[in-house]
Amino acid sequence: MANVTVIGAQWGDEGKGKIIDWLANRAEMVVRFQGGNNAGHTIVVGDKTYKLSLLPSGVVQGKRSIIGNGVVVDPWSLLDEIARVSAAGLKITPEILVLAENAVLVLPLHRELDAMREEAAAQKIGTTKRGIGPAYEDKVGRRALRAIDLMDPATLPGKIERLLAHHNVLRRGFGHPHADADALLKALSEIAPKITPFLGSSWRELDAAKRAGKRVLFEGAQAVLLDIDHGTYPFVTSSNTVAGQAAAGSGVSPRDIGTVLGIVKSYTTRVGEGPFPTELKDDTGERLGARGNEFGTVTGRKRRCGWFDAVLVRQTVITGGVDGIALTKLDVLDGFETIKIATHYELEGKKFDHLPADANLQARIKPVYESLEGWSESTRGARSWAQLPANAIKYVRRIEELIGAQVALLSTSPDRDDTITVKDPFVGR
Ligand code: IMP
Repeated sequence: MANVTVIGAQWGDEGKGKIIDWLANRAEMVVRFQGGNNAGHTIVVGDKTYKLSLLPSGVVQGKRSIIGNGVVVDPWSLLDEIARVSAAGLKITPEILVLAENAVLVLPLHRELDAMREEAAAQKIGTTKRGIGPAYEDKVGRRALRAIDLMDPATLPGKIERLLAHHNVLRRGFGHPHADADALLKALSEIAPKITPFLGSSWRELDAAKRAGKRVLFEGAQAVLLDIDHGTYPFVTSSNTVAGQAAAGSGVSPRDIGTVLGIVKSYTTRVGEGPFPTELKDDTGERLGARGNEFGTVTGRKRRCGWFDAVLVRQTVITGGVDGIALTKLDVLDGFETIKIATHYELEGKKFDHLPADANLQARIKPVYESLEGWSESTRGARSWAQLPANAIKYVRRIEELIGAQVALLSTSPDRDDTITVKDPFVGR
């Protein structure tokens, strides 16, 4: 199978939406394998902009799209999204969309718990408050409701009771009233007939696709530095975001996830709390944010901005399993006289060539930069290397050298066609 897995290689918001849409064009099936509606992908096609959260990007092009078992699914949010994109002209039918029957459901009580925790915490994570963490906790705690449970609402009361036995203790601890079991049952019973037509088996869909020789695109959400194991813990999301999760989160062999493309932004951003060594809290940071329109798709929060951190990406290329990168938003750097890249860190005379695991050290290490000459010309919309200024090419080549991975795609505007292809990821490693 000539498949491709796409993951974010920084802290998310690298512009995955556009690259995934570009690749979806060449795929026959698109699969989400982790995260939930904490993700936000913006896809621009001509004069239309689609904002997707739970739906795999394949829906924009009418490709068969699977929400895999590794995703946590807020069914109300899914129905809202389906209604929204349907109104914008997309066709979301059970022929297009399949929801893994063994995917875990995100419930209103998860959203509430997420918010209660964030409000009560002295040290906040800065979550999207979509209930993602609490839903994954229930999954691992073996008390979650799954999509398949909606097929047989008669079994729901017992499952809800088991779930609430856990949640009501927590809610009491936060000084909140118990969750209303009857209201939850009623709400779930109401949406069940709208969700169940989409239920199917992710692993069987993928097995059939493999046998038919179809090209599959595995679409990651968030990014490696937000990975529950490999990210800046505890300031991370609650799922594995590395490429390996594409297999577990959809039900395929790890050998079938294909070429792994890491999406890398030409500078660095982060939403939410947590360490960010190259963060710029000055005019340059503001300028990057304004030029890059760095506001969260899901929560509208202003993103923190900073120079490109080659230490981090060198590390995520390894932990994420990245074969090649798609470099995005190069045009945001147009007009900067000098551009900096962090090549290593220092603390009290000690040199670090990686991000230390200790959160305390992560917060204190200082980036050491090398400076490159910028370019005054516009790179926006460039579709070939020949259209790029020499200094922009030098910058890209230096990034490749420092991170130990090559650029397969270069994106120069949100438009699908403004992409320089160096190596088609579907053509293999
Ligand atoms: P949660 O995933 O809502 O639990 O949030 C945990 C952390 O991940 C927070 O710092 C969020 O801002 C961040 N996060 C979650 N989803 C995304 C995303 O799609 N892009 C960027 N950051 C995200």
